[in-house]
Amino acid sequence: MPDDGYSSSKKKDGYWDDVCGQEVSKTTRIRCMMQTLDIRTFVVLFLVIPIGFMGVYFHGQKITYFLRPLWQSPPKPFIPIPHYYHENVSMESLCKLHGWKLRDYPRKVYDAVLFNNEIDMITIRWKELHPYITQFVLLETNSTFTSIPKPHYFAINRERFDFVEPRLTYGTIGGRFKKGENPFVEEAYQRVALDHLLKIAGIEDGDLLIMSDVDEIPSAHTIDLLRWCEGPPPIVHLNLNNYLYSFEFHVDHSSWRASVHQYQKGKTRYAHYRQTDYLLAESGWHCSFCFRKITDFVFKMKAYSHTDRVRFSHFLDPKRIQDVICNGDDLYDMLPEEYTFKDIIAKMGPIPHSYSAVHLPSYLLNHEDEYRYLLPGNCIREAG
Ligand SMILES: *[C@@H]1O[C@H](CO)[C@@H](O)[C@H](O)[C@H]1NC(C)=O
Ligand SMILES: *[C@@H]1O[C@H](CO)[C@@H](O)[C@H](O)[C@H]1NC(C)=O
Repeated sequence: MPDDGYSSSKKKDGYWDDVCGQEVSKTTRIRCMMQTLDIRTFVVLFLVIPIGFMGVYFHGQKITYFLRPLWQSPPKPFIPIPHYYHENVSMESLCKLHGWKLRDYPRKVYDAVLFNNEIDMITIRWKELHPYITQFVLLETNSTFTSIPKPHYFAINRERFDFVEPRLTYGTIGGRFKKGENPFVEEAYQRVALDHLLKIAGIEDGDLLIMSDVDEIPSAHTIDLLRWCEGPPPIVHLNLNNYLYSFEFHVDHSSWRASVHQYQKGKTRYAHYRQTDYLLAESGWHCSFCFRKITDFVFKMKAYSHTDRVRFSHFLDPKRIQDVICNGDDLYDMLPEEYTFKDIIAKMGPIPHSYSAVHLPSYLLNHEDEYRYLLPGNCIREAG
């Protein structure tokens, strides 16, 4: 009988199927529903989904960054300007190599920075640039970008900077201490104050103005070239080598935020974003998180613009920070901020150690005793 064959094969499915195949009571119906969730469904409901949620919670940034090529296209590429330099080539020849002309006299140059607490970086920067700078302009506040009160670190250490004193325009401005505000607003406010300070310093039309963070250091010869030649674009970004923690970790060649402007009254505004398509190759160094003490790392992570990246308090643990530095890992456990899968994958994992200390700022190499932590093979930081 065909009917018999059917029912006997069904029997193999066991007791529950037999009951559920018929009209049953309410409680049995629930049991039947549970029973229809087979083992795979249980795994999905109670393992895969919770693990997925935990994964998004702990690694949400990684997932969005990894998928970035899907939701964000890369910015318009820069127009690179080839950069020629050798110490034994005359300025006239250098200008000519760039398609520019030697001027009768150099432009005046203003170097303007917002200062937080980077005493070592500002020293190396000013020693590198000081033969070519007309006025050093430095502004500091008693508030970090996230409205945490801070001392005027520059004022406290000012006697160390005798070598620029005759050419220093120093200003302070009170923080606004607006709790909960986006830190980029305080940052923008401080940059506007820097525009005022530049006027006080006496900047005039046609003078060069370097807009960069303290840790974005143009090489001296780059600034000398730009002040002596007629012909560079009126605004040019500087392509700097990116380093992290010290010159031992050479991340890439792609820092571009620093820029040099031919000042125009009423038009030039101090900014730290993209302002032109021109990018002058190989123009210096950008050393991020290049701090002497572990406490400086903690301060920076808590007090500046990307505090949202400190997702877990253990990120601020000094022992972890020390290990991260020596491994060339990421302080925030983030993925590389790149626009293509190829670049993200190429940059995943720790930054390889570099053993080159060739073409670094001369002051650093001449004062190795003082700044050893910035050179290859010296990743251990002072605790205090
Ligand atoms: C530098 O230039 C001078 C004069 O032009 C030349 O005599 C000297 O050999 C050059 N030195 C190097 C290292 O190229
Ligand atoms: C910051 O500086 C301003 C202006 O000098 C002052 O009025 C304010 O009290 C200072 N705030 C703190 C927290 O030091």
